[in-house]
Amino acid sequence: MIFFLTVLVTSNADGCGATSSATDSDGRTWDGDANLRGVPLPGFSANASYLDPSLPSVIPYMNARILSSNFTYILGVGPGRMFLRLYFYPTSYGEHSAVDAPFSVTAGLHRLLSDFNPSQTAQAMGRTYLIREYSLNITSRGLNLTFSPSPNHTGSYAFVNGIEIVPTPDIFTIPVPRFVNGGFPDLIPISSIISLETMYRLNVGGATLSTDDDPDFYRSWEDDSRYIYGSSRGMTFFQDSSVTISYPLSMSHYIAPINVYSTARSMGINARINMMYNLTWILPVDAGFYYLLRFHFCEIQYPITKVNQRNFFIYINNETAVQMDLIRSSGGAGIPIYTNYIIITVGHGQTDLWIALHPDLSTRPEYYDAILNGLEVFKLQDNSNNNLAGVKPTLKKNHDGKASHGQNKTYNRIPAIAGGGDVVGFLALLIACFCVMYRRKKTKYSHGKTNWNPPKGHGELASTTSHTKDLKLCHHFSFMQIQEATNNFDEAFLLGKGGFGNVYHGQIAGGKKVAIKRGNPLSRQGIQEFRNEIEMLTNLRHRHLVSLIGYCDEESEMILLYDYMANGTLQEHLYNTNKPPLPWEHRLVICIGVALGLHYLHTGAKQTIIHRDVKSTNILLDDKWVAKVSDFGLSKASKDVDNTHVSTVVKGTFGYLDPEYFRKQRLTNKSDVYSFGVVLFEVLCARPVIDPELPEEQVGLREWALSCQRKGVLNEIIDPYLMDKITPQCFRKFAETAEQCVAEHSVDRPSMGDVLWSLQVALQLQEDDCNLSEETPLLNTSSLMATRVRPSSGSTMSISGQKVVFSEIMHPDGR
Ligand SMILES: *[C@@H]1O[C@H](CO)[C@@H](O)[C@H](O)[C@H]1NC(C)=O
Ligand SMILES: *[C@@H]1O[C@H](CO)[C@@H](O)[C@H](O)[C@H]1NC(C)=O
Ligand SMILES: *[C@@H]1O[C@H](CO)[C@@H](O)[C@H](O)[C@H]1NC(C)=O
Ligand SMILES: *[C@@H]1O[C@H](CO)[C@@H](O)[C@H](O)[C@H]1NC(C)=O
Ligand SMILES: *[C@@H]1O[C@H](CO)[C@@H](O)[C@H](O)[C@H]1NC(C)=O
Ligand SMILES: *[C@@H]1O[C@H](CO)[C@@H](O)[C@H](O)[C@H]1NC(C)=O
Ligand SMILES: *[C@@H]1O[C@H](CO)[C@@H](O)[C@H](O)[C@H]1NC(C)=O
Repeated sequence: MIFFLTVLVTSNADGCGATSSATDSDGRTWDGDANLRGVPLPGFSANASYLDPSLPSVIPYMNARILSSNFTYILGVGPGRMFLRLYFYPTSYGEHSAVDAPFSVTAGLHRLLSDFNPSQTAQAMGRTYLIREYSLNITSRGLNLTFSPSPNHTGSYAFVNGIEIVPTPDIFTIPVPRFVNGGFPDLIPISSIISLETMYRLNVGGATLSTDDDPDFYRSWEDDSRYIYGSSRGMTFFQDSSVTISYPLSMSHYIAPINVYSTARSMGINARINMMYNLTWILPVDAGFYYLLRFHFCEIQYPITKVNQRNFFIYINNETAVQMDLIRSSGGAGIPIYTNYIIITVGHGQTDLWIALHPDLSTRPEYYDAILNGLEVFKLQDNSNNNLAGVKPTLKKNHDGKASHGQNKTYNRIPAIAGGGDVVGFLALLIACFCVMYRRKKTKYSHGKTNWNPPKGHGELASTTSHTKDLKLCHHFSFMQIQEATNNFDEAFLLGKGGFGNVYHGQIAGGKKVAIKRGNPLSRQGIQEFRNEIEMLTNLRHRHLVSLIGYCDEESEMILLYDYMANGTLQEHLYNTNKPPLPWEHRLVICIGVALGLHYLHTGAKQTIIHRDVKSTNILLDDKWVAKVSDFGLSKASKDVDNTHVSTVVKGTFGYLDPEYFRKQRLTNKSDVYSFGVVLFEVLCARPVIDPELPEEQVGLREWALSCQRKGVLNEIIDPYLMDKITPQCFRKFAETAEQCVAEHSVDRPSMGDVLWSLQVALQLQEDDCNLSEETPLLNTSSLMATRVRPSSGSTMSISGQKVVFSEIMHPDGR
């Protein structure tokens, strides 16, 4: 089966030549471009020489159409508005090197990309693949999509891995805009035929949402944390259980899926700190264009239900765009609203959009805080020449001469660009169109009824489930390559020994440092765990989970290759070590990272995954001290999210093992919570979880810590290094969280989301105190943090309804 460039047909799929359609990891069917009727296809289809493990799916990235001269796809789509998405995975294709691909793309009269070099752009952005999304209003004559290799570069070629077209209703036209800041009404650039390019689509305070979270238009919403400026990142949270989100009649639910509104980022719990900073995002864009900025809001936090409780300013490029009181604008808690602003950027080259939030005190609100749930930035076509194409990003150089891949460094662009020759003027802020209440009849729109007639053929959307995952994403290594990498398993390369076998470090082609785990070939159980680990990890990608680079199963070997974790295990920084002790805030950040990883396993992946072996030796630290959960040999997936339990033979590590699981042999995700609670005590007390040398009552860490906690003397058994370094409020919060995690009965334990929230609060309590010493907050925000009783267990649980989701609260190098 050969896939050519694949054109995604959403509904009414063109099923002709079924042999060349394929399914991606979200279960969507892509057709081979060879199926496009009546178009003799030039160029040839080539396989990618290497599939990077960070690709989200094999389809459509595994092959591309290579075009060495101009070529036009004539697509019989329209009329009406469509998302056009172009997928590019810059790598070498056969003899075609990635750097030889500068090209232009036009759609009808619109120039979409000009002298575009995917490899250079991807490198500048620190990404492995690029998806360009446009919204075009296509006329009745269809869409001509032309790829033109750059004439200025010898041997240049154009390529594309996938083209996706999704019809949409009109979600852009803005009703008569109201101008703030006295704009220029003759410059209203949005018309029904305008073309736009999506620059950013952020799920603020939430996880990255993939295409299957937005089944209407397959938009992907990115986690916003990488764009936050500075070390003040506020707090992220999930919709309170008492809040139900419902769209107002005046707003189409096509504007954004509910998942966007159900998570948010706010400034934090301390009014005084909030007064001292702006919660700021920096978004690099091309200068010289108009941008449509769309802010999505929804009050989803328990105490905020009334007007004048939380008022704030939105600044765009340091100018006040608007004052917001969401309850006043939307009409109540749980009601989404969105606002649009148009801004013009002048100059050429690249520039940054600054978006900032700050409390507005003019009306004396109850909380000095601000909130944002989602943010989209669209570039508007330049009407004078139908252009949407920006200039190539310049590669920035670090001290060591390597191109910067910095994901968190985007805001360093200002000096880098000014120095790079592309001088940027960035002046006029125009405007804003206020369309909180976008009054129109409820859109009657459904996928099946678009006026887009796909190419002829008998249509059928293959409903293949995506869980039959391709091991292709996970690179296969030969045994010889492994021998070379480890100097034939030289003792000097040994990092450690575990139940599964030995772990070595080594370097693979390209000099990449890896950790190599070699299974003991005699162990039958090992084979099972080896397969399990590959299956689990190929499906999971998360900042706080260790990533699998490849494997080798030659000659009855079981070898796994991972990213090398320069700082080893968490345990080796806690006790029985000669390494310097970790500062307390550092430990908190690590625990939050682990909680994020586990929370993702429990709720973020397609299936609920129970790790089953959470312990301090399975928590690894990379060179930037980012915590990664590792070792998925025992993990179990369950499709039943609400009532997750799997009956199994009890496995795990003594000392961390959930007693209820042990008794009932029924595994739930609360077993991971238990083990994590033990890790929290380990972090606090810096001693082994079982220490047979100690007097009997002290042998087990959990029992000893709990008995001290009950007597109120837990502070006497903590790591002596931490004495006087933890603020009392933080200590109380942390200890209480650990205690709840290791509760005897699973119903009494918090969910991983609650644990995450508590740890974030603990960190804030530590920092607030260090930043402000004795000062009291301007306003008492404690009711935001009101302690509420969870009826099911009777135990008191802080902020049980406010769950924090995945996203980072802190900047790794911000402290
Ligand atoms: C691409 O890979 C497929 C299988 O993965 C193979 O059948 C096909 O021949 C390859 N095509 C080229 C051009 O190498
Ligand atoms: C696309 O190109 C074909 C052939 O060049 C032409 O006949 C057709 O009118 C074009 N369609 C559009 C919408 O420009
Ligand atoms: C290919 O397209 C480019 C721009 O779209 C155009 O300038 C050039 O003349 C075309 N080349 C040929 C041989 O048609
Ligand atoms: C090719 O080079 C000429 C002269 O340097 C320049 O004007 C033109 O814009 C370049 N074309 C492309 C597609 O880069
Ligand atoms: C597309 O453009 C036509 C005019 O050419 C307009 O009538 C129609 O409303 C537009 N459709 C959308 C969805 O904007
Ligand atoms: C906004 O202000 C900050 C500092 O106050 C400055 O560095 C930045 O360049 C300004 N941004 C814009 C777009 O003017
Ligand atoms: C927040 O941003 C605005 C606009 O740039 C600026 O005037 C204000 O001083 C900033 N406030 C703080 C506390 O940084």
